[in-house]
Amino acid sequence: MAPVRARLHVVSGKGGTGKTTVAAALAIALATKGHRTLLCEVEGRQGIAQLFDVPPLSYKERKIAIAPGRGEVFGLAMDAEEALLEYLDLFYKLGRAGRTLDRIGAIDFATTVAPGMRDVLLTGKAYEATRRRDKKRQYVYDAVVLDAPPTGRISRFLNVNTEVAGLARMGPIHRHAVSITRFLKSPSTAVHLVTLLEEMPVQEAADAHAELTANGLHVGAVLVNKVREALLPAKEIKQATAGKLDRKTIAAGLTAAGLEPVDAFVGALLLEASDHAQRIALEQAERKALVEFGRPIFELPLLTDGVDLGGLYALAGHLGGVADAV
Ligand SMILES: Nc1ncnc2c1ncn2[C@@H]1O[C@H](COP(=O)(O)OP(=O)(O)OP(=O)(O)O)[C@@H](O)[C@H]1O
Ligand SMILES: [Mg+2]
Repeated sequence: MAPVRARLHVVSGKGGTGKTTVAAALAIALATKGHRTLLCEVEGRQGIAQLFDVPPLSYKERKIAIAPGRGEVFGLAMDAEEALLEYLDLFYKLGRAGRTLDRIGAIDFATTVAPGMRDVLLTGKAYEATRRRDKKRQYVYDAVVLDAPPTGRISRFLNVNTEVAGLARMGPIHRHAVSITRFLKSPSTAVHLVTLLEEMPVQEAADAHAELTANGLHVGAVLVNKVREALLPAKEIKQATAGKLDRKTIAAGLTAAGLEPVDAFVGALLLEASDHAQRIALEQAERKALVEFGRPIFELPLLTDGVDLGGLYALAGHLGGVADAV
């Protein structure tokens, strides 16, 4: 039997580490070779539309990009109010009456005031999209990628249906909440953690890894973003760390480049090399901490010119192995 593969990919990480960018790259990667993916935004900031240079996303799913090998990426901006109307219709066949509730402000009340309600609706929508089938009983999307809340809120976000299942002790809402919870805690859902090779993001990823695991959620891959190239070969990094870089070689290099090898210049370069070596050493320590998670690790390069559409596809090229690794 084929192993169970994750179909819902939740992308979290410390704020600003590149969740939106990496989620978009992952959606492209998962769509390659003729697959169809859905990329969902939960926080209504239109980051995805900006990234793909398309008009703002709405609650109506829309094709936003193609992937190598005739793949397709669809986009969706999740909206708690729209999701609630869908829910009401599903459970109570409210149809137009739901719209009336909307007009009198009940929907607004439920989605903004009731604690956790918003998260229930959003995870419920992700669940629905992931399991949706067409007339031939084929999945509409091979994978759904969620540009999810940051690490500080991710466990709560994914766990909120457990609370609902506890509150509504029976009936359709209880059953639905139980199914969503079961799906989110099954191997069909993977929570990927985006991090940088810096202390704070790695610490947050470690905390999230522990918390998610304790809650029975599956951590997928660790996605290390904005990785900078080492500027010196390993041997010279070692020498720089030990303060043993050869002044004469540097001076000769400067002369060869047509520059005057004055002492101050050579000294400044040595200092730079030492700083660089120190940064590489710190990054190595962070890498070690990430290995401790025991999860597959993928590294994405820092794009020095920023992330344009071409850059996004380049990043996707580094994520081709994620589907098979989680
Ligand atoms: N690999 C990369 N190379 C260069 N720049 C990057 C890379 N990944 C992300 N960025 C840039 O870093 C910034 C933050 O990225 P992004 O918006 O994806 O982060 P985020 O985690 O979604 O942020 P927020 O927490 O605000 O939602 C953006 O300007 C983005 O273009
Ligand atoms: Mg974002």
